[in-house]
Amino acid sequence: MSLSSGLLLRDFRLVDETMDMLGSVWIEGGIIRDVFPQGAPLPEIRLPMHRTIQGGGSLALMPALVDLHAHFRDPGYPEKETLESASLAAVAGGYGTVVCMANTKPVMDSPAKARALKKRADALGLVDLYPVLALTQGMEGKALSDIPLLKGPLHETEPWLRMLSEDGKDVVSDEILYRALQEARRLGIPVSCHCDAGGPEAEEAKAAGKPREFWSRIEENHATQRVIELARQAQGHVHIAHVSTREAVDLIRKVKGAQQESGHAVFTLTAEASPHHLCLTEETAHALGAATWGRVNPPLRTEADRRALIEAVLDGTIDAIATDHAPHTERDKLQGAPGFTGLETGFALCRMELVRQDRLSLSRLSSLMSASPARILGLTDRGRVAPTFRGDLMVVDTEALWRVNPGRFRSRGKNSPCSGLTCRGRVLMTIYQGRVVFESFLNPDPEKETG
Ligand code: DOR
Ligand code: ZN
Repeated sequence: MSLSSGLLLRDFRLVDETMDMLGSVWIEGGIIRDVFPQGAPLPEIRLPMHRTIQGGGSLALMPALVDLHAHFRDPGYPEKETLESASLAAVAGGYGTVVCMANTKPVMDSPAKARALKKRADALGLVDLYPVLALTQGMEGKALSDIPLLKGPLHETEPWLRMLSEDGKDVVSDEILYRALQEARRLGIPVSCHCDAGGPEAEEAKAAGKPREFWSRIEENHATQRVIELARQAQGHVHIAHVSTREAVDLIRKVKGAQQESGHAVFTLTAEASPHHLCLTEETAHALGAATWGRVNPPLRTEADRRALIEAVLDGTIDAIATDHAPHTERDKLQGAPGFTGLETGFALCRMELVRQDRLSLSRLSSLMSASPARILGLTDRGRVAPTFRGDLMVVDTEALWRVNPGRFRSRGKNSPCSGLTCRGRVLMTIYQGRVVFESFLNPDPEKETG
């Protein structure tokens, strides 16, 4: 770690959603001050304390990543993860901003609890944390949480509150979900929805003893349709978390298409997909053990679903890639706890699987993992490599090969579906507000894990 008043990053491939060019970047006071195209003379840097980082080869300098969806397990589950371990994992994965979910113990259902977590995160100074508030008290689905007590405008009263979510489970009551969407609209923030409240069809399938992959698909499709209808009525902003089925993709595409055609939308619809749903399938789940290490909500789906998700990322139906980082202990996984640890592999997995044959450019990947999620949160000061933007950046080696070894993760959750996989593309450095908060060295031998 280094503290310096200025940072010069020289001769890098600079990639963000608007550019892919060679150049250098000067950061001072936590902010990007200048971007110099290659060949332009660099002004003499007079600051006595500045550090120069030299680019070249396959090194790219990109905006730090923005994660719309992670489970930090703090407070309440230190055996799975803590704020400290999750933050270290986040910076090792290139993240500068993270939204963390409310299914903690106690549940994050009051501003006081969330404020306390935010304060601890700020004192750590590794990532900019945005705790969500749960929609209902104790996430029991019965009574709204403290959301109605909140007064706007939020950027003055509670600037850390950018999203509401009951992620971990769905809200069964239409009425409560509708009221939460109305409250979110009043506050001007999105509700991130974990869609798995199944209708009668899913219940029938379950009762008939059909397998999970069968009824969980019906659940997701039904719940996605339901929440879109409720958002239409409430005229709010609904963000669909971890989309995984081709039918949900088709529905979102259709609704967005109709909104565009009509020229005005009465509600806002955005959606995210996770690296594991974009890059892995049920085959991996079965190989890992569908009821244990391969278990996640929603489940890993078929190759046809995965292809549909990739098409949706390419055509803009999916707005962002979010990890759904869900660390668990070995014991909990063996007892069927759903979820994958994901902060430390998200970028590499997407770089390897999606930026292929130029179908998805690195610039577009940057948009999906930085600028676009920042926009969803209303954070207009990050996600670009441009003057006046925050000095939240990452250095990646776009070609580095490395083998995933969960034993070396900073996260306490070793439950990675990518264990043993050789990935291409690696985060080597993360810069947060102009400070280097993570630094690793490239090991040329992919068989030997680095970091
Ligand atoms: O697999 C999952 N795990 N999906 C979720 O929605 C919640 C998460 C968790 O909290 O473990
Ligand atoms: Zn979820």
